[in-house]
Amino acid sequence: MYNIAVIPGDGTGPEVISEGLKVLKAVSDINGFTYNLIEYDLGGERYLRTGEILPDSVVEELMKVDVIYLGAIGHPDVKPGTLERGILLKIRSLLDQYINLRPVRLYPGVETPLRDKGPEDIDFVVVRENTEGFYTGAGGFLKKGTKDEVAIQESINTRKGVERCLRYAFDLCRKRGGTRKLTLCGKTNVLTYAFDLWHRAFKDVSKDYPDIATDYAHVDAISMWLIKNPEWFDVIVTDNMFGDIITDIGAIIQGGMGIAAGGNINPHGTSMFEPIGGSAPKYQGKDMINPLAAISACQMMLEHLGELDAAMLVEKAIIKVLTRDIKSLSAGKMGHGTREVGDLVVKYVVEDSD
Ligand code: IPM
Ligand code: MN
Repeated sequence: MYNIAVIPGDGTGPEVISEGLKVLKAVSDINGFTYNLIEYDLGGERYLRTGEILPDSVVEELMKVDVIYLGAIGHPDVKPGTLERGILLKIRSLLDQYINLRPVRLYPGVETPLRDKGPEDIDFVVVRENTEGFYTGAGGFLKKGTKDEVAIQESINTRKGVERCLRYAFDLCRKRGGTRKLTLCGKTNVLTYAFDLWHRAFKDVSKDYPDIATDYAHVDAISMWLIKNPEWFDVIVTDNMFGDIITDIGAIIQGGMGIAAGGNINPHGTSMFEPIGGSAPKYQGKDMINPLAAISACQMMLEHLGELDAAMLVEKAIIKVLTRDIKSLSAGKMGHGTREVGDLVVKYVVEDSD
């Protein structure tokens, strides 16, 4: 029996999560596992109504569940950063979800903006450090609002934080069993403290993984190569900020936010799975948003829980929807409504299990 915290959140979050939960229900019936959903009302609406962002009591409860399934955080009437920092980044940090795992895989039937690239070329994973770097909030203002104003935003890189992230990436590379190549993405030519530490740790840790080939690329160069030669990459490991940026490149080359999912992983605690596209408020309540990213996030959650057969069923069903039914991954252009896409996934899940 899994305890699953559900945070539908803002905008289209609730709509896509409800399709993910439909799929979860279907595979649980087939694979015979049970779960208990605990829903949390967090996000912009609650904040505007009550002023509450993320009560401590909720954090404590989240620490005790098996996994968290998150829709989206971000509301047009709330100052940017308030909810993102106050909910999403706070959960990542307080629950020590130190890995942000973002698979980038072009499924058959999906159009990529990259001419001449197909599913055989686009299949890698980004392991993004998820609790440090520029995301800790370290820094501050001096003389704010004056013409002498100074803003300092510091990147925190601890040997411990970097090393555990690198080890996770090496282990994953081994587990994937692909070309077994781990690329460190950094900026050693300019960020000579932060990425000096990363690079030294990378070399040290690599000694424990002689079967994994290692490579290094600057973040600017990798941004180019992800477009030009995505087939070069197997697993990429990087810091929080660079990981944020390059995973948007990853998302668009795999077909866009309609399909991109990620996991915030604490290998020893509570992990959280989410579609990475955001709350897309302009599509809210219109049955237009693509739920496949949320359903993919559900698939990652199942994998994480060890429900591998269920995860495989879901992935196969997603591929069927992509190759048979859906016209485009973009909201409003799918040729089907949000709920219909969820129903199609469920239909294929059930068909395949017979
Ligand atoms: C992401 C998002 C978040 C991030 C924002 C919403 C704070 O862009 O999950 O990639 O920067 O990590
Ligand atoms: Mn991002």
